Amino acid sequence: MGDRRCSSVVLRLRDVCRLYGRPGGEQSGLRGVCAQFEAGTLAAVCGPSGSGKSTLLMCAAGLTRPASGTIELCGERIEAASERQLTRIRRDQVGFVFQNFQLIESLTALENIYLPARLAGRRIPVEHAVRLLEQVGLSGRAEHRPAELSGGEQQRVAIARALVAGPSLLFADEPTGALDGASREQILALLREVTRASGVCVVVVTHDPVVAESADRVLVLVDGVLVEELTGASRDEIARRTVARA
Ligand SMILES: Nc1ncnc2c1ncn2[C@@H]1O[C@H](COP(=O)(O)OP(=O)(O)OP(=O)(O)O)[C@@H](O)[C@H]1O
Ligand SMILES: [Mg+2]
Repeated sequence: MGDRRCSSVVLRLRDVCRLYGRPGGEQSGLRGVCAQFEAGTLAAVCGPSGSGKSTLLMCAAGLTRPASGTIELCGERIEAASERQLTRIRRDQVGFVFQNFQLIESLTALENIYLPARLAGRRIPVEHAVRLLEQVGLSGRAEHRPAELSGGEQQRVAIARALVAGPSLLFADEPTGALDGASREQILALLREVTRASGVCVVVVTHDPVVAESADRVLVLVDGVLVEELTGASRDEIARRTVARA
């Protein structure tokens, strides 16, 4: 695994716009976003509800096309790529983690890790999934189904699933939104470890200043505009910078 992983700049957005009309005539979405994300770093994207965080993630992952601008994922321009190319790039380079885990209820933890990638056509040895389960600290839970796992454990399975095909980029949209404080800390520690140990570029979308504080840098979006980038900011500072602008 990891053979296809790209180094240095994993994702580059230039002047990305994706606007949605509102009944009143005004528009929302993304306006001229420029940003780049490097291998082995953890970035947080923060901002008030409706500021365009999920839209940014959808565009960057090739799930929504921008109206204008360019998006380079592992050196490939994706904004105008064919559906076929996008499917391949997503399958090989991008992993996703969601707020509500999105595991398959009828499968065991171990099966949840390798079966989706196999169904998408990747050859994943079971032993690789076993190693990942170990890495996320759930060796003893291989045969458990999602309903038999805590929220934090389910999210750890989801992170292992997202990593199974050796992606360059891991997107997590509010990965701790459904978790309590202790589980939140464990998931953050795991995301930081994954970033450091495997050189994956992790981009976390979050409302939570505690989550943002653990990132290498914080990008603040307000009304579709990237208004600032913070490094080394405390949770209080991040809260002030995002909430004050809402
Ligand atoms: N498919 C769509 N059609 C129309 N408008 C949309 C669509 N997707 C998003 N929007 C609008 O674009 C804006 C940005 O939405 P987005 O989901 O990116 O915000 P967000 O920052 O992720 O918010 P939240 O924190 O609530 O998840 C919002 O005003 C939203 O209503
Ligand atoms: Mg969102």
